[in-house]
Amino acid sequence: MNDRFDLVVRNAVAVTAGDVQRCDIGVRGGRIVALAERLGPGEREIDAAGRTVTPGGVDGHCHLDQPMPAPMRMADDFLTGTRSAACGGTTTVIPFAAQKKGESLREAVEDYHRRAEGKACIDYAFHLIVSDPSERVLRDELPQLIRDGCTSFKVYMTYDDLKLSDRQILDVLEVARREGAMAMVHAENSDCIAWLTEKLVASGHTAPRHHADSRPAPVEREATHRAITFSELLDVPILIVHVSGADALEQIRWAQGRSLNIYAETCPQYLLLTAEHLGLEGFQGAKYVCSPPPRDKANQQRIWDGLAKGAFHVFSSDHAPFRYEDAHGKKLGGKEVAFQYIPNGIPGIETRLPLLFSEGVGEGRIDLHQFVALTATNPARMYGLYPRKGTIAVGSDADLVIWDDQREQTIGNAMLHHAVDYTPYEGMRLRGWPAVTLSRGEAVWEDGEFRGRAGRGEFLKCGLPDPARPRTRAAGA
Ligand code: URP
Ligand code: ZN
Ligand code: ZN
Repeated sequence: MNDRFDLVVRNAVAVTAGDVQRCDIGVRGGRIVALAERLGPGEREIDAAGRTVTPGGVDGHCHLDQPMPAPMRMADDFLTGTRSAACGGTTTVIPFAAQKKGESLREAVEDYHRRAEGKACIDYAFHLIVSDPSERVLRDELPQLIRDGCTSFKVYMTYDDLKLSDRQILDVLEVARREGAMAMVHAENSDCIAWLTEKLVASGHTAPRHHADSRPAPVEREATHRAITFSELLDVPILIVHVSGADALEQIRWAQGRSLNIYAETCPQYLLLTAEHLGLEGFQGAKYVCSPPPRDKANQQRIWDGLAKGAFHVFSSDHAPFRYEDAHGKKLGGKEVAFQYIPNGIPGIETRLPLLFSEGVGEGRIDLHQFVALTATNPARMYGLYPRKGTIAVGSDADLVIWDDQREQTIGNAMLHHAVDYTPYEGMRLRGWPAVTLSRGEAVWEDGEFRGRAGRGEFLKCGLPDPARPRTRAAGA
C-alpha cells in the first residue's frame, strides 16, 4: 500500500477552538489523516515554519448572487464571491437561497443550485430565507428541504419583500423546533422604521446618514426582545444575526442569563465602523449603508466585550456585495437616491478573518482559540457542518489557513478579489494575513495569488445542528 500522504504541512502550530499542537498535518483524499511529529513524506509538502495554522474560515452569513428586486443586483456571483472568500482564508460559505413572496421555496433552492454549480471555488451550503410561509411551505417544502440538508433558515422582521408577521414567525419556528433546524432572525421593528423614514423624508432628510436615524438602537432592541419571546414561547433555539450594539446585546445577555437558547452573531462592521461613516461627504456614506447600521465607539466596545465574554457565538461577514458606481448598486438607477432606496449591505467576505485576527487577536481583545471558535468551529456547529468543517482533527476536511502572522498589510480594494468597486476598510492597517489557504488539501490562495478553480467547490448537505435542539421536548413531540 502506498502510504505517502498527498500533502504534508510541516512544522505547523495548529490552533483549534480548544488546543494548540506543534505537529505535521498529513492529508490524503482531501481529509486530515494524521497529526503528529515527523510524518512520512507527502507528494506535496508545505513548510509552515512554525507559523500559526487555523481551520479554514466558515462564513455562516454572506449573500452571493441572491436574486434581488430590480434594478438591484449583487456584484458577486459564486465565482467571484468564493474566490474572494478563499483569498481571505475562508473555505466554506453559507449564503442564502431566498424564497420570493408567492413563490415556491423549493424552486428558490433549485435556482440557487444552478447559480452555484460550476462556479463555486470552495465548498458551500445553503441557508434558506422563508418569506412566504404558506401551508405548502410549512407542511411539505420546508421539512423536506431540511431533510435534504438545508438545515438552517433566516426569517426577517423587516424589509417589505421579505418580512414575516409575528404569527408567521411563530409558524416557522414551530417547524424549526419539530424538524431540528436552526432559525436565524433579522431583528428590527419594521413599523418603527417605516414611520421614522416617513418623518425623515417629509422633512427633507434623505442623505445616506439618515439611514442610521431611521433604524436607531431601540428598533433593534425591541425586535430582539420580541424574537427572544417567540423562542421562549416555543422552546426553540434561535440565532440573532448581525447584532450591532449594546441595546440588542443586553437583551441577548438577559435571555442567556435565563438559560434560554439564544445564540448571537456579530460582524466586522459593528466593531470597526460607526454611523459617522454614513455621513461621509457627498454620497460616499452610501458605501456604509447596512442594516442594522453601525453605531458609535461606545457600542463597538460593548460588541468587543460580548465577543470576549462569550455572548456571541459566530462572527460572520454579512457580505452583501453592491457596487458603488453602479445603477444596480448603491447609485440605484444611476442616481444618488434617498437613503431608503440605497441597497442595504456592505462587502467583507475577504477581510473578515484578517480584520478579526489583527484587531481582535493582535490587539489582545480575544485569544486565538476564541478567534477560531468564532470564525470556524462555532459556525460549523451552529449549521450542522461540524466536525467535517471548522476544526483541525483526523477525519476533518483539510481546510486550513497558514498565517503570515507578522505581515503588515494596508487594506485597499485593488488587492481584494471580489467584484465590488470599494471596501469599507480602505486604508486600514493590519498585522497578519493568510499566506496559504487550503481547501480539502488543495491550495486555493498561495504566494499572493488565487489558485482555485471555478466549479471545484462542493455543495455540503448540513446535518441537524446540535445547538438547535430544544431544551425540552413537548409531550408527544
Ligand atoms: O444590510 C444588510 N445586512 N444587508 C444584507 C441583508 C441582511 O439583512 O442580512
Ligand atoms: Zn439581515
Ligand atoms: Zn445578511
